[in-house]
Amino acid sequence: MKTGYGTYHYDGGELWVEGVPLRTLAERLGTPLYVYSASKIRTQYRNFDRVFAGRSRTVCYAMKANSNLAVLRLLAEEGAGADIVSVGELVRARRAGIPPHRIVFSGVGKTETEIVAAIRAGILMFNVESAEELEAIEAAARRLRRPAPVSLRVNPNVSVDTHHHIATGKAENKFGVPYEKAVELYRYAARKPWLNIVGIQAHIGSQILEVRPYLETAKKLLSLVDRLQSHGIYLHVLDLGGGLGVPYHGEKPPAPADLARRLLPMMKGRNLRLVFEPGRFLVAESGCLLTRVLYRKETAHKNFVVVDAAMNDLARPALYDAYHPVWPVRRSSIRGVATDVVGPVCESGDYLAKGRVLPRPHAGDFLAVLGAGAYGFSMSSQYNSRPRAAEVLVFGSQWWVVRERETLNDLVRGEKIPPALK
Ligand SMILES: Cc1ncc(COP(=O)(O)O)c(C=O)c1O
Repeated sequence: MKTGYGTYHYDGGELWVEGVPLRTLAERLGTPLYVYSASKIRTQYRNFDRVFAGRSRTVCYAMKANSNLAVLRLLAEEGAGADIVSVGELVRARRAGIPPHRIVFSGVGKTETEIVAAIRAGILMFNVESAEELEAIEAAARRLRRPAPVSLRVNPNVSVDTHHHIATGKAENKFGVPYEKAVELYRYAARKPWLNIVGIQAHIGSQILEVRPYLETAKKLLSLVDRLQSHGIYLHVLDLGGGLGVPYHGEKPPAPADLARRLLPMMKGRNLRLVFEPGRFLVAESGCLLTRVLYRKETAHKNFVVVDAAMNDLARPALYDAYHPVWPVRRSSIRGVATDVVGPVCESGDYLAKGRVLPRPHAGDFLAVLGAGAYGFSMSSQYNSRPRAAEVLVFGSQWWVVRERETLNDLVRGEKIPPALK
């Protein structure tokens, strides 16, 4: 059995994160509980950013991965910008201290309210995903009498070996404008005085485990940059999106340095700021979901361990069949048996792990679901009327609750029984 995962490690038979035993957190704060390691987030950010040192660049954290204000503040202090997809994310990013000139706005369905808020905030650029969206941004900018900064999100039709729900750069996906239409749209934008053309963007998918698709994408975008120049349109930003993978189950994703080594020579002599939008890479390995064993259930077919965390807390296994390491908080020398770790939600898809060889736990034992820092809490819901978990940020041997556990009152906040039913 492995003894470490990022900043999570066994010591004296107990699982620790940095200088804090996970048992202490589970006992003091209850479960389910999300725990994040500040030093892991910092290290990931620095590893990404430093390989592009010497070039003008902005690392815009894709905050949909984990939008807790404390996580955002930590990254803001490191110099990160943000990739946002809603006005809600804009508000969070600004509250966490991320400067507007480091914010890019992605997404196929930006509303007028969101467009106006982002123009007023003074963001770096909209990554525009359709001709109609470009018109809507132009109309809003004209009304506000403030030029709107735009880049086109181009669909490069590049294939990526990942789960089909998180591949976004093929022609059949809903994202971006078709490659062949891009020049025409840029020429349209160039004629509009209230549109300020900034750059070009592509985001081809998530949990990408090779450098090749990034290079293919960069090549295609740079060829568009050159074609645009011949029309007198000069771009200042090349945004290659996010997507760099992490090891959940022995995968060997490329390091940012591998990407930089191959990409930077392509950028030589070009006066383009590089923008990246990593989400998962920065936060996935920092986080775990702590859960308590409720019951064991052994049938003729299977061993189940029922825990107090469920698909509403961590949707990734149910959504994408995603693998997360599940480790006992107290290490055991008992031989493991194949076990499904399932939650209390009334769906067969409600599981956290399947067929995992785990020492048979007892009710009250704690398990840590690792690699849960990205698309964990941020995708959680109250399904089955389950209050959302608390979140904790660990710094060395110190820790802070960075989001309180929801209460039963939070579940019904805003709901009303109409007079007709009284
Ligand atoms: C436009 C855009 N940028 C960046 C990301 C971040 O992807 P990842 O977390 O895989 O880095 C996403 C994820 O969905 C995205 O849609």
